[in-house]
Amino acid sequence: MDVKDSAGLKDLMELARLAAQRSYSPYSKFRVGAALRLSNGAVVTGTNVENASYGLTICAERSALVSAVSQFGPEIRVEAVAVANLNDAASSPCGACRQMLAEFTLPDAPVVFPSTDGMITMPFKEVLPAAFEMKL
Ligand code: THU
Repeated sequence: MDVKDSAGLKDLMELARLAAQRSYSPYSKFRVGAALRLSNGAVVTGTNVENASYGLTICAERSALVSAVSQFGPEIRVEAVAVANLNDAASSPCGACRQMLAEFTLPDAPVVFPSTDGMITMPFKEVLPAAFEMKL
């Protein structure tokens, strides 16, 4: 289920929902899934993995991103992001996930996530303006 070709945003959202079903979230019970479409055509998904030491929890978005780099290497570019949860709640990507995504995500990549007004889509550059970058 991790790799699918040429998924549209709606398909991407469905894959994020499927990923959320695999969430390990016994503490918050908040089940999140993320799906990333890469410029190589692959779709990689991730889910949140919690820990008894709460701060070690990994969010769905970072889980998907780390999986994508692990599978395809450091040249990946993220062309679209979908986030879903099974709790009927708003869940935009948290600050840590935005900063992690910034490393690989194209500025115009659409990011779709559940807001208080239903699903919304915005370009990544609006999701995290002025991201920290290290130009070596
Ligand atoms: N969570 C995510 O998976 N993504 C986010 O962007 C925000 C929060 C998870 C972490 C934790 O397992 C649960 O949601 C509640 O914070």
